[in-house]
Amino acid sequence: MGKPVIQVEDLWWRYEGRKDWALKGVNLEVDEGEFVGIVGPNESGKTTLVMSMNGLIPNNYRGIMKGDVIALGMNTKEYQTADISKRVGFVFSDPESQFLTMTVEEELAFGLENLALPVEEIRDRIRWAMEITRLEEDFLEKPPYELSGGQKQRVAIAAVLAMKPDVIILDEPTSMLDPIGKTEVFNVLIDLRKNYNVTVIVVEHRLEDIAYLADKMVLLYNGEILKVAPPQEFFDDIPFLLEHYVYPPEIMIAVHKLREQGLYSGKIPLRFDEGVKILEEVVKG
Ligand SMILES: Nc1ncnc2c1ncn2[C@@H]1O[C@H](COP(=O)(O)OP(=O)(O)O)[C@@H](O)[C@H]1O
Ligand SMILES: [Mg+2]
Repeated sequence: MGKPVIQVEDLWWRYEGRKDWALKGVNLEVDEGEFVGIVGPNESGKTTLVMSMNGLIPNNYRGIMKGDVIALGMNTKEYQTADISKRVGFVFSDPESQFLTMTVEEELAFGLENLALPVEEIRDRIRWAMEITRLEEDFLEKPPYELSGGQKQRVAIAAVLAMKPDVIILDEPTSMLDPIGKTEVFNVLIDLRKNYNVTVIVVEHRLEDIAYLADKMVLLYNGEILKVAPPQEFFDDIPFLLEHYVYPPEIMIAVHKLREQGLYSGKIPLRFDEGVKILEEVVKG
């Protein structure tokens, strides 16, 4: 693992008009090339935390901040969101909300035109981003609203990737999508994980997929980080997760129960098929 790309240092944030702090002394370091999964119940501060990583907080929201966030060496208090977000891309859960233009092509070119890149470079980057997100050529002419949810979200991800960011943050990118759309988006994340050296930070409830993709899992609860660990360690304490309203995949819970009953003594499986194998072996005795 490389050098730190995001450093969150004793971060406190309170939205204007709110009595409680949304974040209470959060410390987190994300290193170059890492894939980080952030989980936690609703209102625990996940969106607030990731918005602080590209400067949306404190620059675009009203509130009180204490502590620092350093993104690629830039203290978010001292740089504008526009400058930070060129290198720290952000994908929201609602793909609709991020479209600014009339066609997919314009959408993909939008950020690049603002970088004042040569036309050739723009075309290459769009082609590259479409390849990763598996968008077909004939999508270019289409208005985003004609696409399915999964396709829209892939366009949103492609638009961010085309900027060649060092870090890409996705805040519940599949929560508004149907099962097919969710799978489409996860396939993109799997590809990014395997083939591209981009740092990925994703807030996601679909733990069955995050479990085997992440290098590091973060549990946020009531504005505080309660646990940071590699998935194997993170999912080892199932009761701790359940206590904090984080619901691991059924297969992990099943294996955990076998372990409690003394019928199994190995690791919690991170992949579904590993779990099935464990169950089969226990049943066979
Ligand atoms: N724009 C906002 N203005 C005021 N309070 C907010 C705003 N956004 C979020 N909050 C509050 O901050 C806390 C953390 O919210 P959020 O970061 O959205 O959590 P999560 O993404 O984990 O659901 C919650 O109590 C929420 O009500
Ligand atoms: Mg949220």
